[in-house]
Amino acid sequence: MTIEIIIKYVHFVTIFAIVGSLVSEHLLLKEKMTRAEIQRLSVIDGVYGLSAIILLGAGLALWLWVGKPAEFYSKNWIFHLKLGMFVGLGLLSIYPTIFFLKNRKGESMDELVAIPSAIKWMLRMELLLLFLMPLFATLMARGIGYFGE
Ligand code: HEM
Repeated sequence: MTIEIIIKYVHFVTIFAIVGSLVSEHLLLKEKMTRAEIQRLSVIDGVYGLSAIILLGAGLALWLWVGKPAEFYSKNWIFHLKLGMFVGLGLLSIYPTIFFLKNRKGESMDELVAIPSAIKWMLRMELLLLFLMPLFATLMARGIGYFGE
């Protein structure tokens, strides 16, 4: 029971970290940014990536190890939808992450770099997914969407 509580707590705290870092990235993003500013975004993006990995670990543990039987989730289409959204989140974060990493260093840290508008839109799509996921999580945790016997 204790381990389940700890894992559920980790699941929530890493969600907070993901939301916090994504909202910060979105607020800090400008059309043109200095390398120093991009470097800061890259650090926040690192917090986002690390939190996502820990969140995945906690989610897998809740699914396959502690708490309800794995089948409770494996045979629930809303759970699979939620997993698909998590994969979507990961895919949407690839381009911004690579862009920040590539552009964080240069000749002059004050040099201005144009930020592609696609990055802002990808962050917005990620925030939209994050906004919907707790609804699907709440439904599937109560057995709604279960298609087993
Ligand atoms: C950003 C991503 C995620 C968000 C926002 C999220 C959100 C949530 C929330 C709010 C709950 C609590 C539902 C409740 O008790 O009413 C929950 C539970 C759960 N999550 Fe996630 N989750 C995410 C990622 C994942 C991933 C990647 C997995 C699996 C690999 C996962 C597996 C689970 C499981 C199995 C539960 C059920 C726990 C229970 O029945 O009490 N989650 N999630």
